[in-house]
Amino acid sequence: MSTNADVPSVSESPPAVEAPPSNGKPAPGAVAAPPHHDGFLGIVEDQFALRQLISEYLIPKETNNFWYTLGGVLAIALVLEFVTGFLLSFAYNPDAGQAYDVTRRLIETPVWSVVINFHFWNSFVIFGLVMIHMLRVFTTGAYRGSKIGLWLTGVGLAGATFLISLTGETLHWDEVGFAVPWHISEFFQAVGLAGVVAYEFADLKDIPTATQKLGQIYAVHISLAAVILVLLTVLHYYLIKVKGISFPYWLKESGRTAPFSTHIKEWGIYGGIILGIVLLMAIFVPRDPGIAPQLLPSSPFYGATHGPGGLGAKPTFPISWTHGMNVFVGEYLGIEPDIWGTVVGMALMTVALLVIPFVDRGKHTPRGWKEAFDLRQRGWAFLAMGIFWLVMILGAVTNFFAQAG
Ligand code: HEM
Ligand code: HEM
Repeated sequence: MSTNADVPSVSESPPAVEAPPSNGKPAPGAVAAPPHHDGFLGIVEDQFALRQLISEYLIPKETNNFWYTLGGVLAIALVLEFVTGFLLSFAYNPDAGQAYDVTRRLIETPVWSVVINFHFWNSFVIFGLVMIHMLRVFTTGAYRGSKIGLWLTGVGLAGATFLISLTGETLHWDEVGFAVPWHISEFFQAVGLAGVVAYEFADLKDIPTATQKLGQIYAVHISLAAVILVLLTVLHYYLIKVKGISFPYWLKESGRTAPFSTHIKEWGIYGGIILGIVLLMAIFVPRDPGIAPQLLPSSPFYGATHGPGGLGAKPTFPISWTHGMNVFVGEYLGIEPDIWGTVVGMALMTVALLVIPFVDRGKHTPRGWKEAFDLRQRGWAFLAMGIFWLVMILGAVTNFFAQAG
């Protein structure tokens, strides 16, 4: 990787490895000898060119810090989410008459409860890490020069993460999950297409037609969104490798490099701590299966004419802002249908993220705090990021205080 966003480093051959001086400490500018494995591990490294990717791939030593490891921790969290999701798909049944009971039983059964709870809490961590990682790469101006494409793949990743969280919440199929197709229906009604795509409220209150909708959402969750996420992650990593990584502006440049394997070790340490806490939560924090959806006779809301929002169902953290925006637009601005709150909020957030690299006037990654927060160069970029957070915070806070009705 190169420290300068404008200088690609893929063709650079690694600098010669120097022997440590007699005091045992490497000379300034020297790099540690890349670890070399013998036996089976060595063969695997050779055959899959892993040495070039890991131990012989040199990065600025200073990038081995917490804020620069969050993308890697995210990758580990994603792998575990895929593994637990894969296990859940053996037990799950996207039948609108059964999905709630399947989920409730999983939450109440030993071992399965750990799998489903881990999948649930980890989705919060994934979303939180995406947000923090995005703020880190934003402040370090890591999208400047030839790295606009890298930022754009990141925006795609944020969108895919949101989509997979939203569809996952639906699969739980309690009254909160049921709210998702309900709002999709509201949207289709608002644009006059509900009849065309058979997405009326009546279609959701009838088990066979609701099963079709749940099946479509299941397909998006386990295949479409998952495939988009994997493809974009691969493209993201490829671009980081080719374009190089930015330099942490708050540190002094020593000119020293370290093998990428040292960075992966840091991923493991921070990932182990964060995901270890998620595992403990999955084991020890009890979870309520929620209220059965209003289309089931066993639900206390059975036959209700109001939608889930009006009955007091609120979405969980990664998507809480959507309900809050609906309440804000519907109750405070008096605009109906209130689904426009989510639609307009989502459009504003997407545009805000997309324009950031185009309105930032800086030419290279910031060197020091002053350049990182220089509003003459970055004013528009900060405004765009501000709009993104304004919508999310406004929505989340409104959701928090929203009452049923
Ligand atoms: C699933 C989500 C994501 C994953 C797995 C991921 C992974 C990574 C990794 C491993 C890095 C290397 C440096 C580091 O770890 O800090 C990185 C860098 C980067 N990411 Fe992401 N990322 C994700 C989402 C995003 C988002 C949402 C954005 C922005 C909208 C973004 C933009 C960038 C940029 C611009 C860099 C280059 C950083 C630099 O040069 O310092 N990424 N990403
Ligand atoms: C970033 C990736 C993913 C995220 C953020 C995510 C998120 C979620 C969330 C929040 C739930 C609801 C869990 C609950 O309320 O208890 C869920 C359910 C589910 N997910 Fe995922 N998921 C991801 C990937 C996957 C993958 C790759 C698969 C399958 C291969 C999968 C399969 C499932 C299944 C079967 C359920 C239903 C569990 C149930 O309610 O009984 N997920 N997911």
